[in-house]
Amino acid sequence: EKDGHDWFMRKEIFEQPRAVADSLLGRHARNGLLQLDEMRLSDQELRDIDKIIIIACGTSFYAGMVAKYAIEHWTRVPVEVELASEFRYRDPILDYSTLVVAISQSGETADTLQAIRHARLQRSKVLAICNTNGSTIPRESDAVIYTHAGPEIGVASTKGFLTQLVACYLLALYLAQVKGTRYGDEISEIMHQLEAVPDQIASVLSRSDEVYELARSHVGTRSVLFLGRHAGYPVALEGALKLKELAYIHAEGFAAGELKHGPIALVEEGLPVLCVVPPRGRDQLHEKMISGIQEVRARGARTICLAEEGDTSIEPYADHLIRLPKVPVLLQPLVAVVPLQLFACELATAMGHDVDQPRNLAKSVTVE
Ligand code: F6R
Repeated sequence: EKDGHDWFMRKEIFEQPRAVADSLLGRHARNGLLQLDEMRLSDQELRDIDKIIIIACGTSFYAGMVAKYAIEHWTRVPVEVELASEFRYRDPILDYSTLVVAISQSGETADTLQAIRHARLQRSKVLAICNTNGSTIPRESDAVIYTHAGPEIGVASTKGFLTQLVACYLLALYLAQVKGTRYGDEISEIMHQLEAVPDQIASVLSRSDEVYELARSHVGTRSVLFLGRHAGYPVALEGALKLKELAYIHAEGFAAGELKHGPIALVEEGLPVLCVVPPRGRDQLHEKMISGIQEVRARGARTICLAEEGDTSIEPYADHLIRLPKVPVLLQPLVAVVPLQLFACELATAMGHDVDQPRNLAKSVTVE
């Protein structure tokens, strides 16, 4: 049942190329147009939307953070991302032109369910991104995009997260198509980039031994920091969450630009800092990230950098380098999170923890 793996989680990590490919299947029609079959909202309803609020918990919330970057960039519709448990209790401003997107792997998370009930009472449309057919959240939503990860058994979400990202990109591109904010050629080009991702994830997985060795050398480590910028920031948060929940190690993710506003005070000799380096591009992201890495390194941090193939500029600043395939910055989370999943899984295993059933956690959280 675990396909020869020791844990369901490890099996599910290795299923990700297939899960991502399945989540893309049948979406890109031959005429180049995107189609979302279960999208029960009409094009006119989508055109009328002037604000999107994404609600979710935990790992699904981090998928929502990535979605914000993609949706705003491709559609120019403002997006808020909020923890489901906070959303309802702050008297959010919603109406019929607000689209609420609820992201939930299980479809049963009580915080998220209560939040969508509240949104529907305010006459907002609710779209669910969910991995579980017939679960409560999609049943109570106006529309749904199902992810095709297959059942996720390990408590820590892995393939669930990657397929949520795919669903978010599809939603963003579909909105761009309907609203006319991006041309068909460009949408097709991004779809082709997405369709290349399963093989790219497979290439990251083929180098898992290198990450495992690194992970095992961290047994006994008390604290790890994760840094990212732009779409790499939620990846840093997700890497830190995986380490907390599986290895029970104190871990925190930061937006690299925030370091100087406080967290850099945590850096001391030998502290491992995992850095998600954005691809080199026309923007300043890559340079800014490098300067953040230099700053922590100058204070004694041991930097473990995830950077794209061919990026030699990072070499002088990396104590350890993990190579990522070349993908545009908005899609980079799909490949960058994989080594972080492998790292947490292997480190927890080396520490003797039960990776599939971490202490104090349940797979679906059905209490508020
Ligand atoms: C982390 C994890 C949790 C869930 C969260 C939301 O690995 O699994 O943080 O992501 O409890 O669950 P769903 O997506 O089922 O609503």
